[in-house]
Amino acid sequence: MAEHSLFLAPLAGYTDKAFRQIANSYGADGSVTEMVSAEGLARDSEKTKHLLDRYSEDEKLIVQIFAPSADPVARCMDTLLSFNPHMIDINCGCPVPKVVKTGAGSALMKDPEKVCQMIKAIKSRTDIPVSVKFRLGWDSSSINYIEFAEAVHNAGASVLTLHARTRAQGYSGTADRNAFRSLSEHMKGSGAFLFASGDIFRPEDAAEIIDGCGMDGVMFARGAIGNPFIFRMTKEYLKTGSYSLPDTEEKVMTAIRHLRLAISCYGEDIACREMRKQLMAYIKGISGASSVKARLTQASTEEECVNALMPLVK
Ligand SMILES: Cc1cc2nc3c(=O)[nH]c(=O)nc-3n(C[C@H](O)[C@H](O)[C@H](O)COP(=O)(O)O)c2cc1C
Repeated sequence: MAEHSLFLAPLAGYTDKAFRQIANSYGADGSVTEMVSAEGLARDSEKTKHLLDRYSEDEKLIVQIFAPSADPVARCMDTLLSFNPHMIDINCGCPVPKVVKTGAGSALMKDPEKVCQMIKAIKSRTDIPVSVKFRLGWDSSSINYIEFAEAVHNAGASVLTLHARTRAQGYSGTADRNAFRSLSEHMKGSGAFLFASGDIFRPEDAAEIIDGCGMDGVMFARGAIGNPFIFRMTKEYLKTGSYSLPDTEEKVMTAIRHLRLAISCYGEDIACREMRKQLMAYIKGISGASSVKARLTQASTEEECVNALMPLVK
């Protein structure tokens, strides 16, 4: 792991092999897959395995799995290891009711022992680093991230990512930066590598969390959607104290490159439809973007998407 790592966070519906490739090309030190069902992998589901696709140059496949208990984790290991992952992350933060009601995602905040058993199931099969991504707690009356972090680290997780919100907060409300400081103070000297997640949208946010709160790295999530440049900008900022923004041409050309990668993964029809929200994120704030957005909504081919975007480049 680099001294201060900048990762692309797992984002269901976004961090497919195309987005991970784009983020890595702008300097991400690692990019995490969308959450992948351990049960789906255990059953050898083609649809689930598709989420682990990667380009050959994507050397560091970081796979996030979700499961309600150690049993599917143990059963998925043969399939998972056949993809040669660089790191395996366990999701303990997903707040979506469909996931939580099975006992997976943030429901695991209530049962750290289950997570420890999952870690042990992985560790009994491989030396690949295990990481855990978790929240402050289930809700404001059950904040337990410090005890949780300590328990999973003792069970063998060497990388810990705190999303500094409770399950009850979902993705709203502000992430609690003081929690990053408390976690890093508590885990000092333990050897755990600590990532921060939550409300990290600008290079200044990352610097404050790394330099001010003592975390080892940050994961960009919503801040990287339509903005993979954040990795380059943050590296520059951490090194020099300033950074330059991408110009319109770079934004548009990167959006088109991202679209073409998605087309090579899913075909033109699906990719043009699925990529609309991301293409719009790339051009947000550019003068003339609203009329382009209207055209993108109608576009269903690569040519139509490119023709909609190019007028933005003078
Ligand atoms: C659309 C969307 C999908 C997400 N999918 C996942 C996921 O699959 N696994 C996970 O651990 N977190 C997931 N997250 C949470 C993010 O990784 C991140 O922790 C959260 O968005 C907080 O960071 P931010 O405030 O900087 O966006 C998702 C978030 C969003 C908005």
